[in-house]
Order: sequence, then C-alpha cells, then structure tokens
Amino acid sequence: MNYLAMIENEIYSSLPKQQLTEQVLIDSMRYSLEAGGKRIRPLLVLLFAKACGSEESVALPFAAAVEMIHTYSLIHDDLPCMDDDDLRRGKPSNHKVFGEDIALLAGDALLTNAFATALGDRAISLVGADKAAKCAKVLADCVGMTGMVGGQVIDLASEGKSVSINVIKEMHLKKTSCLIKAACIMGVIAAGGDETTVSFAEKYGISLGLAFQIMDDILDVTGNEKDLGKPIGSDADNQKSTFVTLLGIDKCKRLVQKYTNDAISALDGFNGDTEPLKEIALKMSERKS
Ligand code: IPE
Ligand code: IPE
Ligand code: MG
Ligand code: MG
Ligand code: MG
Repeated sequence: MNYLAMIENEIYSSLPKQQLTEQVLIDSMRYSLEAGGKRIRPLLVLLFAKACGSEESVALPFAAAVEMIHTYSLIHDDLPCMDDDDLRRGKPSNHKVFGEDIALLAGDALLTNAFATALGDRAISLVGADKAAKCAKVLADCVGMTGMVGGQVIDLASEGKSVSINVIKEMHLKKTSCLIKAACIMGVIAAGGDETTVSFAEKYGISLGLAFQIMDDILDVTGNEKDLGKPIGSDADNQKSTFVTLLGIDKCKRLVQKYTNDAISALDGFNGDTEPLKEIALKMSERKS
C-alpha cells in the first residue's frame, strides 16, 4: 500500500461502521475527510519516522490524528463567523451541505477523535503508552490556545487593521506552523528519536509552516480556484492582514525560498533517509494547489 492509502485507511477505520442515530455527524465528518486535500501533515509524520530509521507504519495513528485536526480546522475556518468561504477541497464547504450547526459539531468530533486515535489501543500497541502520551501532549500543546487556535484568533483580530510584520509572523507561526511542527515531532517521538532529533524536526516544521502559509497567502491572490479547490480573493474580501498585504508578492516569494531553505538545512540533523522531506519542502514552495 502506498502512503496515501495507508493514511486514508487509518483515518476511515476510526469512524463507526454501524449506522448511528447521529449518523449525520459521521456523514459530515466523512464528507470533509473524503474531499481529499494534499495530506501533507500526515505524510510528514510518516516521513519523519522514516528519517529516524524506523518503519513508517508505527506512526500511522498519529498521522491520522493530525489530518483529523487539520480537517476540523478547515471546517471551522470556512464558517460564516470565520472566513465565510463556500468552497473547500473542490467541493461545497461542510456548512453549505450540512448546515452550520452540524459543521461546528463535526469539527468538534474530529478534534476529539484525533486524541482518541493518538491514545487508542492501536497507537499504544504500536509505540507503547509512554510515546503515545508524549505525542498526544505535543499535539494538544500545538493546536490549543497558544497554538493553532490562538493563531486563528490573531488572524480574526487583525482583520481590517494594519498590523506589524511581527504580529503577522506570530499569527503564521501559531495558526499554521504549530500543527505542521506537531506532525514532524510526533513522527520522531513515535520512532523513538531523542530530544536533539526532536529539535531538528521542530526547526523543519516551523520553517516549512511559515513557507507554507506565505505561499497560501500568495496563492489567494495569484492562484486559480480550480487548482486550489477554494475561493481566490478570500483574504482581500475579509480584509485580512497577511505577509502579501504588507510586503507584496515578490518579497513574499523570496521569503518562501528562504524558509524552505531553512527547513531543508534542519534535515542535516538526521541519519536516516531525508530525501522525501527535502522533496516535499521544494514541492510546497512551487505549488499551485
Ligand atoms: C490549508 O492547508 C490551510 C492552511 C494552513 C494554509 P492545505 O493547503 O494543506 O489544505 P489541504 O489539506 O490540501 O486541503
Ligand atoms: C488557515 O488559514 C489556517 C487554519 C485553518 C488553521 P487560511 O484561512 O488562510 O486557510 P485557507 O486559505 O482558508 O485554506
Ligand atoms: Mg482563516
Ligand atoms: Mg480561510
Ligand atoms: Mg488562505
């Protein structure tokens, strides 16, 4: 099985097989999970385990967990009270199909299911309770109040204002780098890597996350809806503060290169195969979707 099939198998096997009274919730979760997406974050979990010389499959529950959290964040990000976007992953946004109430709850359930997966029997049998708990703690710290959710608050609070480059950088570090960083670190922990190795994974994740969000902001201006599967011009419509509004496209493209190079140099800290991680960083810096 290839990586993508392994990741998807892991995600779907965590959903209930039998029909439930609350089936609409499961349908809504499945709708967004099945809509596709690049699956970059779960791929990073597996590739960091590999870079530590481990079998990738030991990290699968953590890969599934990070994609569930990412998918929840997108469902909530598209809600009318947030970015109010009607298209995601090439399909109508979750709330356009299931309504805002179910979309909100599908996000909640994906977030909760991520931790049930990272701390589940399968995770514990693959890596042991100690490493599973460490991964879950990293994930919780990275996506909570001073991580991704905190970053989303800075994003909303910066709408319609002129904010400094430092605030925009902090916002990007929190709303995007934190989850990517968690993916990288969990791969290392699942593989039994030491603290030094964790710090190299952290450095890669922070830099890749910055490059990734600056590229996302560039594509919101220069991309096309068909390739991206989400609306163009959403940031301008919402008067978002981004690196692009402050620095312009050309300077932002140079920053993407700089952070991509920073990410790649962090790979020197690994003994195993880091070529796929280098390729992902380069591919993300040239992406159109
Ligand atoms: C979109 O992430 C949200 C950002 C943090 C910019 P992705 O570009 O990884 O979205 P999918 O998973 O491929 O849909
Ligand atoms: C997304 O930022 C950050 C999170 C979902 C945490 P954006 O709002 O720019 O993402 P897109 O462009 O809607 O995917
Ligand atoms: Mg947003
Ligand atoms: Mg958005
Ligand atoms: Mg965006």
